[in-house]
Amino acid sequence: MTDRTTTVTTDDGREAKLPTFGGTHGPEVVDVRTLQKETGLFTYDPGYASTSSCKSKITFIDGNEGVLLYRGYPIEQLAESSNYLEVCYLLMYGELPNDTQSEQFTSNIMQHTMVHENIRDFINGFRYDAHPMAMLVGTVGALSSFYHDSLDINNPEHREISAHRLIAKMPTIASYCYNHHRGMPFMYPDNDLSYVENFTRMMFAVPAEDFKPSPVAVKALELIMILHADHEQNASTSTVRLTGSSGANPFASIAAGIACLWGPAHGGANEAAINMLDNILHSGETIEQTIARAKDKNDPFRLMGFGHRVYKNFDPRAKLIQKMCHDLLADLGGDQPLFQLAMELEKATLADQYFIDRKLYPNVDFYSGIILRALGIPMNMFTVMFAMSRTVGWISHWMEMHTDPEFRIGRPQQVYIGAAKRDYPKKS
Ligand code: CMC
Repeated sequence: MTDRTTTVTTDDGREAKLPTFGGTHGPEVVDVRTLQKETGLFTYDPGYASTSSCKSKITFIDGNEGVLLYRGYPIEQLAESSNYLEVCYLLMYGELPNDTQSEQFTSNIMQHTMVHENIRDFINGFRYDAHPMAMLVGTVGALSSFYHDSLDINNPEHREISAHRLIAKMPTIASYCYNHHRGMPFMYPDNDLSYVENFTRMMFAVPAEDFKPSPVAVKALELIMILHADHEQNASTSTVRLTGSSGANPFASIAAGIACLWGPAHGGANEAAINMLDNILHSGETIEQTIARAKDKNDPFRLMGFGHRVYKNFDPRAKLIQKMCHDLLADLGGDQPLFQLAMELEKATLADQYFIDRKLYPNVDFYSGIILRALGIPMNMFTVMFAMSRTVGWISHWMEMHTDPEFRIGRPQQVYIGAAKRDYPKKS
């Protein structure tokens, strides 16, 4: 893979010849691993914006062109023709499944949808008003205390069965977090349903009354799940890799990813975007005033659901989701004024020089909240939904890391800017 070298020369004449190489797509990289040995220098890159932490075969993003590929397949084609479990197989194993593989995989996943009865008790132990993300992060971490028959991270079969368990049990756990919160009974999974239908039934059915989502609602949820399934080395995936790099078990590693996802700059953004749109609607603030606040450097307010570390053109997921909003709201009703406002805000920012100069476009979270709300999913479950979809991405990266011959424990350097070495004052 090594093509050329780049030479780094310091002012005092120390020199390092660093290999450069490229991947299948994307820019060339400089391999700085020998830089410190050759020159005594480390690199400084807060937020890792210029640093590749690993080689990966799973997902590719071209932020300038608005391209997102899972294992080489464009997200638009997968959104159009695939379904969530097929995408899970693709992300985990690298190829689309044939009919037999698809049937086998679906049956494997659906066989694992139930959780140990004590997990139901565990969730019942949370305060009635606990945030579902607080319950999710705790419960997924706790899975390692229930499924320790498959925790040998050096055993490929154990890794695979843990991955299947995580993908299978997330909808069950997510629905229990929701129903604990509203004091409703926990429904057992129905393995005859599709993955997505089973989830909606566990969310909204009660023993006294079944729940059947409309075909458009199922399609919308499949789309949301597919679009959130992976996004290469984002903050939560990097957290999963870093946690797993110490040899931590998969449940602990995914729990760490969930904790990272919780933040409003990452998975919490769709909830924040809906809150923002609600506030604008109810406060009577004009779009011009909102935009002025977002541009004001003395105001911490940012347009939630706008901007992205990688996409500097448009987020291809946002386009697909915006289209789905039209279909779903036409079918189910839903919050039309909110959607209308979202589209007007998008239009106004696209014409505004501040947003043009900084290449700030709506991201996936700008519209996903509108879909989730139309599906009847409450706001405090939005990030849980994201975590459920992203579990397959996290676990695929975790599995890839464990077969990577260059894999080492993650351990960044730092630039120390604290007090210089000094002596502890002598006590008189
Ligand atoms: N509203 C107003 N100004 C913004 C925004 C925004 N949403 N995002 C970035 N900027 C400005 C920022 O103030 C800075 O301006 P200047 O150059 O004058 O200082 C410039 O754009 C670059 O911003 P940055 O913070 O250096 O960009 P970043 O790559 O570190 O941050 C981000 C990316 C997504 C955290 C940020 O755009 C943001 O906070 N967006 C709102 C939260 C959000 O929607 N997050 C969801 C991300 S997509 C889902 C996911 O993949 O997790």
